[in-house]
Amino acid sequence: MPHTRNLRLSQLAPGSVQSEIRSMSLACDLAGGINLAQGICDTEVPAPVLAEAKAAMEDGRNIYTRLDGIQRLRNAIAADASRRHGVPVDANTQVLVTSGATGAFHATCMALLDPGDEVIVFEPFYGYHLGTLKSLRMQPVIVALEDGAGLATWELNVDALRKAVTPRTRAILINTPSNPAGKVFTRAELEAIGAVGEEHDLFLITDEIYEHFIYEGAEHISPISLPGLRERTIVMSGFSKTYSITGWRVGYLLADAKWIPSIGYFHDMTFICAPAPAQHGAAAGLEQLPPSFYTSLAADHLIKRDMLLAALRDAGLTPHTPQGAYYILAKTHGLNGANAAQKARDLLARTGVAAVAGSAFFRAGKGEDLLRFCYGKTYSALKEACDRIRSLR
Ligand SMILES: Cc1ncc(COP(=O)(O)O)c(C=O)c1O
Repeated sequence: MPHTRNLRLSQLAPGSVQSEIRSMSLACDLAGGINLAQGICDTEVPAPVLAEAKAAMEDGRNIYTRLDGIQRLRNAIAADASRRHGVPVDANTQVLVTSGATGAFHATCMALLDPGDEVIVFEPFYGYHLGTLKSLRMQPVIVALEDGAGLATWELNVDALRKAVTPRTRAILINTPSNPAGKVFTRAELEAIGAVGEEHDLFLITDEIYEHFIYEGAEHISPISLPGLRERTIVMSGFSKTYSITGWRVGYLLADAKWIPSIGYFHDMTFICAPAPAQHGAAAGLEQLPPSFYTSLAADHLIKRDMLLAALRDAGLTPHTPQGAYYILAKTHGLNGANAAQKARDLLARTGVAAVAGSAFFRAGKGEDLLRFCYGKTYSALKEACDRIRSLR
């Protein structure tokens, strides 16, 4: 009699499929195409970041670090965050260096939430947020941002947010600037979310990984800077996008001192620490890069955004103009296929450009008429992609 009842996948595993973003990247590699699917960010690593990480490796700074990260990086993060958010941040008690914003979110959920707890997530959403919650047996509750007239805006509907709160709600997850919509939450929206958070005593977990990618008068505001929200706000951010080091895995989290030890404990269990040389590289970036580095980053990406918007318009794919991050959602007019995934493959076959099916960012049945394009690319790769997209016409 074979004994196979225990040799099985977990109950969650059958629902675990590779993200659409990763599978489009694989399809793109196979086709030798240009990858505008994944936010890989293959632009140059800033010189001090690269030099310091290399020096750290060569000097033997390759061993595990403290579980909350090296002092030098925590000091630099605290100084940077205090200056930008206008609130004091203590490097020793309110900062945790993490394995990217991804590690920060995983550890935050482990430390602050219980299985079955509900977390409000705005739609369109970043799939990893949902995936992480579900893998920890927490319940994402989705609230649609209003897709104004023809993708014009993604406004917060405060009534819908209020209605989504139940006795099991523990947190509201914010992503500003957002992936994929490029939405930058306004002060008024964040105050409204904060008010709901206070009313129902909820955590505000905010993913600000694109905080330096802000365009044309939009302003990045972190809920941590709003009066009265400090204790309930967990800010997650990092260096993947800002310093083009997505593969180095270094990010951070800011939180009230009473949450940090537990979040740090769970981060330690999964990751031990962010890679040591990468921590030194990130610290050098914060210490040495001038303010003009960050303004040029935004200015460069504004040019790239406008290049891609123009190409998408020329190809007849109606794009939404993002205020932040480096993604564009565009309508799939003229592409063949019954759903967004097929249309993305049609685009790849016809132009050699990979984009992600919009359905990856919405509940089932939505987003099938959208594709997401990433413009966090080098100028030459983006220009080639734009030429190819125009060839659709
Ligand atoms: C909204 C959002 N958060 C987090 C990440 C990943 O950040 P990290 O590399 O710091 O884990 C991404 C990457 O695409 C993202 O889009």
